[in-house]
Amino acid sequence: MPMVTSHSWENVYQYGQIENMPWYSAGLDKDIEQALQELEISSGKILDLGTGPGTQAVALAKMGFEVTATDVSETAIAKALKLANIQEAAVVFEVDDILATHLIPFFDVIIDRGVFHSFSLDEHDEYIGNIQRLLDVGGYLLLKCFSDKQPGAVGPYRYSASQIQNIFKTGFKVISISETEFRGPHQPYPKALFCIIQKT
Ligand SMILES: C[S@@+](CC[C@H](N)C(=O)[O-])C[C@H]1O[C@@H](n2cnc3c(N)ncnc32)[C@H](O)[C@@H]1O
Repeated sequence: MPMVTSHSWENVYQYGQIENMPWYSAGLDKDIEQALQELEISSGKILDLGTGPGTQAVALAKMGFEVTATDVSETAIAKALKLANIQEAAVVFEVDDILATHLIPFFDVIIDRGVFHSFSLDEHDEYIGNIQRLLDVGGYLLLKCFSDKQPGAVGPYRYSASQIQNIFKTGFKVISISETEFRGPHQPYPKALFCIIQKT
């Protein structure tokens, strides 16, 4: 099973080329865009958790959302801030570990595009507790993770829809889970689940 530490994420952003990272998406992920439209959310406070390159945070800020973007990697945050400055997008960036977060509640929406699926089973309680604390009642977690339809075992953990239902069974309502892909610079695109989860 994969073991990814904050130290190894820092190495990824210090030595890797951002545009070549498997999760890189220059524009807003279509699944996120569609979910916001379906939920009729066009304003409010969004947390882009594990923002990495910062592209999702920048796109959301340019749509008018009040965006906070965090990452465990200092270098990721420095590079994302540079992107936001170039694109003149108002994003509040912070180095923060979601498993030991210092963020102040409440957010209307939390975006997790590729973060949760890197955590091991014994980190789930910490993650879920912090998501629950940070979201406003009725707020949404938009979660994109590897699907169990993705072949092989290298990289992130894979999830089935029923596992997601089970993980978020207390304090949340799972609104929908769709089979999709992680569209990035490399094909074939990894198979993913996109989950709309509401805090009850
Ligand atoms: C697969 S990348 C996705 C990046 C970004 N969400 C995107 O879609 O472009 C996962 C990101 O989560 C960050 N991350 C990993 N563990 C984290 C943690 N405990 N707290 C906050 N961010 C974390 C990594 O540094 C990395 O940038």
